[in-house]
Amino acid sequence: MRSNTIDVRPLGSAVGAEISGLDLAEPLAPPALATVKDALAEHGVVFFRNLSLTENQHIALARQFGEINVNRFFGHAEGYPEIALVVKEPNQTKNIGGGWHTDHSYDEIPALGSMLYAREIPPRGGDTLFASMYAAYDALSDGLKRTLDGLRGVHSSRHVFGVKRGDLEGRIGNYDAATQDATHPVVITHPESGKKALYVNPGFTVGFDGWTADESRPLLEYLYKHAARPEFTYRFQWREGSLAFWDNRATWHYALNDYQGERRLLHRITIDGCSLG
Ligand code: SIN
Repeated sequence: MRSNTIDVRPLGSAVGAEISGLDLAEPLAPPALATVKDALAEHGVVFFRNLSLTENQHIALARQFGEINVNRFFGHAEGYPEIALVVKEPNQTKNIGGGWHTDHSYDEIPALGSMLYAREIPPRGGDTLFASMYAAYDALSDGLKRTLDGLRGVHSSRHVFGVKRGDLEGRIGNYDAATQDATHPVVITHPESGKKALYVNPGFTVGFDGWTADESRPLLEYLYKHAARPEFTYRFQWREGSLAFWDNRATWHYALNDYQGERRLLHRITIDGCSLG
């Protein structure tokens, strides 16, 4: 799709598009803002290249899409509590986000999404995978769709942020604040696109409402395996100055941890969303 000089180029067959022709360091004109919002709702994640944003410009960009959600658990860029640090130093082994998940699904009002901006990228590795939960839902049988339509998923932050996990300590903290539990429909209607999406994720979903953990596990495991099928995914290769803006209601993401001994530093700003029903 082209509008003036803005180009939205789909990348994966199911998820992801690259947008070019916009100056993100300046406030976006209403038509440009609408183009980005539409592309995000349609493709689940949009990518921009070759940016040179200051912290204040990154914050101003995010504010055009909603209120900023100040992260409770991550360290932040000095002087900028709005900017969560997604960092791994050469001597650290664990990375942040190294498994399929949807940020903030444990909140009663889950976040819309995040803008992740690359400041320092290893010479190789450190890509991020994205998966389309629209595509995952669409590919289910009518019978399973009918079963899932009536279910709610239980999501929690406790088992992820409420416990110390190896050398993540120092980058993730405030463990006592990990008290969030929430239920959401297992199938949501996306608030902007109107499309149906699967809304459970391996990171934070702990069961189905009213089911035991043992009863929930087999169906959740089936859904996780199904939703991570390669044809629903896109693998984004970062360069310094790249920015990914994903929609948590339409995607999962997974930060690959294949760059031991190298530094990787990204700045993440998360934007508040709305109730999913
Ligand atoms: C995250 O899960 O927010 C981090 C993703 C990444 O570092 O690529």
